[in-house]
Amino acid sequence: MINERMQKEINEQINAELWSGYLYLSMSAWFTQNNLPGFANWMYIQYQEEFTHAMKMFRYIHERGGVVTLKPIKAVDTKWKSATAIFEQTLSHERTVTSLINSLMDTAHEIRDYATINFLNWYVDEQVEEEANAEEILEKVKMIEKDKAAMYNLDKELSTRVFVDATLNAE
Ligand SMILES: [Fe+2]
Ligand SMILES: [Fe+2]
Repeated sequence: MINERMQKEINEQINAELWSGYLYLSMSAWFTQNNLPGFANWMYIQYQEEFTHAMKMFRYIHERGGVVTLKPIKAVDTKWKSATAIFEQTLSHERTVTSLINSLMDTAHEIRDYATINFLNWYVDEQVEEEANAEEILEKVKMIEKDKAAMYNLDKELSTRVFVDATLNAE
């Protein structure tokens, strides 16, 4: 059986992961509307990934004999002033998520829930990737946003990203 406080916090994190997905889906729509289909593809995959992060927690709660409670997903932004603004928000959001994962980890340590510590390690690693990816694209976009040819090339590069559900291989 999973500890109640731990269960409550993981349920909140399910909501946070779904919200992240919702945010990235909204960003994907903005890129489509602004004729950057490669960026739109990248964000669409980001949305799919966030939902897999939520589903990995969803399965885990059930595995531990717990109860999943789904709460409403809050509204997300729909307008941005530039691609740079989008990636600034992405990076700062991923940093926030990292701190949320760290607080979950603090709770798991406090109550000595070793299974959940192991489970959360996957997310700790994932957040390192998430921050690095967002930062890498942000730096590029900041440099080239005003250069249409360079943006076209980066857009082409981002169009090659494909979706892989990494949570399935990890279990
Ligand atoms: Fe996530
Ligand atoms: Fe993320």
